[in-house]
Amino acid sequence: MSLSSWIGPLVVVEDEHDGRERLCCTYYQDRDKRYPFRTDERGFDLLTRLMSTNVELLRINRDMIEEFAAAAISNVLKYTTTTDDNVDARDVVVRVGQGLYAHKPTLRTSGVTWSTEEYSHPGLQRMYLRMKSIQRFTEIWSLLERCEALGVFDGIFDEGGDGVIRMAAIGGGPGYELLATKLFFEDRAPPPGVDGEGGPRLELTCMDICPAWRRYAEALGFTFVEYDINNEVGDDPISVMGLEDGELHFCIVSCVMIYVTNNRVMSMFHRLIHDSHVKAILVSERGERTSACGIMEDLGGKVIRLIDQSDGTDERQAIWTSHEFCERRLRTSHPDYEAHQCGCVFPNVPYCEHKERRRFAGR
Ligand SMILES: C[S@@+](CC[C@H](N)C(=O)[O-])C[C@H]1O[C@@H](n2cnc3c(N)ncnc32)[C@H](O)[C@@H]1O
Repeated sequence: MSLSSWIGPLVVVEDEHDGRERLCCTYYQDRDKRYPFRTDERGFDLLTRLMSTNVELLRINRDMIEEFAAAAISNVLKYTTTTDDNVDARDVVVRVGQGLYAHKPTLRTSGVTWSTEEYSHPGLQRMYLRMKSIQRFTEIWSLLERCEALGVFDGIFDEGGDGVIRMAAIGGGPGYELLATKLFFEDRAPPPGVDGEGGPRLELTCMDICPAWRRYAEALGFTFVEYDINNEVGDDPISVMGLEDGELHFCIVSCVMIYVTNNRVMSMFHRLIHDSHVKAILVSERGERTSACGIMEDLGGKVIRLIDQSDGTDERQAIWTSHEFCERRLRTSHPDYEAHQCGCVFPNVPYCEHKERRRFAGR
């Protein structure tokens, strides 16, 4: 399958509302290309950059599949392998990965999408890199736009004491949320001075329990730190990164809470925003009901649900912060849905059209 076929060409279409011609790209986030999404030339450019960045990650993955296959056959067959053996073994690794991706066996037995062992399998990683790249990139871009609309990032680059803004993806996997973040701030931030001085500098760190993601995150240009969010000794991202309180400015949590929602972890996140001066934790999750949001509120944190709630609770994109940051720094805590939807690069991300159908069905 050619991955580029998930991102369609930029074509001229007539706008259904005002009849004007504009450029449109249809792209897909799912394996079977069942659900078309649309974007404009800005989104097309971003997705093209994502795809070209992904080429290197997929090359690394091909090497890892090769190494994994060679190790597997030499362990099992105990003889010097031929080229044909290697091709067959590579094919098995790829197919096992496709099977793990499609059937998610651990979801049935343990309630989490994939185990750390499965994430470490290069065949599953191949599928993850191909499919989740588009999904995560667009979701995080939308999350950042929604945060920006509230003023979360107002003036942040004037504030970094040492001229650095640090953000960490907690449970960041290969790091697509950080790639979206990097391109987002490249787009928004004032360019650095001619001598490279004076401009904002982003330091992006990917933290994950699964060390197999390291090579990808580093290839994307990020620091990788092995970290168990659910550790029992109380290590938080700041101490594990060797930072002082106040030196980590934002955390991003994307599709991780299914693994780690419990009181200990939520208390750790609560302490980050209340005691350790993390300004906000930006959250993008799969479930319209994400129990971590309620737990954060029970602990006394402020939760801003970023998606329109008029069709029912939707906690897929949220900000966890302190009441103080919200009152002092945000222009409003009520997302301006209209404004966001008008100008956003990736409309309907995360997918919301089903709500409209649900509304009509309920009439
Ligand atoms: C669905 S993936 C999401 C990865 C990435 N955030 C993204 O959106 O593409 C879940 C990630 O959480 C990581 N994870 C699961 N349990 C964890 C834990 N206790 N500590 C740190 N990371 C964990 C997994 O290794 C995996 O990379």
